[in-house]
Amino acid sequence: MAIELAPTIVGPSKQELGKTASGSVPIRAWYYNPTDDPPSHPHQYTPNREVSVEHLIELGVLTWTQIETEDYHTNEFLNNIKVDRSYNYGEVLTVAPDRLNNFEALTQKFFTEHLHEEEEIRFILDGIGYEDVKDFDGQWIRIEIKKGDLIVLPPGMYHRFTLDENNYLKALLLYQGKPCRIQFDQGPDADAMEVRKRYLESVLLCKQNGDIKDNQLENISYEDKTKDDQLENKSYEDKTKDDQLENKSYEDTKDDQLESKSDEEDDVSVVYTPTIHSLELATTNMSFQAMTV
Ligand SMILES: [Fe+2]
Repeated sequence: MAIELAPTIVGPSKQELGKTASGSVPIRAWYYNPTDDPPSHPHQYTPNREVSVEHLIELGVLTWTQIETEDYHTNEFLNNIKVDRSYNYGEVLTVAPDRLNNFEALTQKFFTEHLHEEEEIRFILDGIGYEDVKDFDGQWIRIEIKKGDLIVLPPGMYHRFTLDENNYLKALLLYQGKPCRIQFDQGPDADAMEVRKRYLESVLLCKQNGDIKDNQLENISYEDKTKDDQLENKSYEDKTKDDQLENKSYEDTKDDQLESKSDEEDDVSVVYTPTIHSLELATTNMSFQAMTV
């Protein structure tokens, strides 16, 4: 039986927008001021150039705030999100100098611009960090993630992570199906990945006025551009239908790929039940790949 890895439909929906407004205090985000300060500094402009939750949603970034972190295993609000979005595997990771053997190398790696083939989902149990994500025009947006925040970055979105000046963050890492800890650093190879193209297409469809900058489109193939041009002229209903069809097609492809895998891999899927499995990663057991945030 194939594992349903649930390819994510990137982009906002009214339902998700409502969920994002779960707390009275939205997550904090601002445009990153690229000074020579260490990455762990806030890097705000003066005055600060804040970015709204709605803008983050346009980019495919979903956030929730003020979630209770005590007894999070039984937290109904968090568990509802897990069920709604098929997050059925989790592990706890602490990023701090005294918790990681190769802290400097790892944190430097985390701060390298990269993407993933699956969603990046982080529920912050303690501490503060920053997720930087690329805006439509390529500017960095810094998102502060702190205790009680849940953030979901879409597949194919370039981003990077750093701790704040306190050098401590403890987070629950959630996954849809298999844990996905592989990061693809920004470059021609990552630009050419299907998941990257799909993200760009999704952002384009969400951006009704189509003001994406040319430098974000240069890696889309001619066929992709032609398809986008055709979509521009279609009605909203047509776009929605196409989007559904594209995702159906993608799911079918995934299923085909998964079904062609060995029996051994299929057996692994049995492990990923709808129950949340939490795992305290031992520092000594951490490999480089396993440490991707
Ligand atoms: Fe990442």
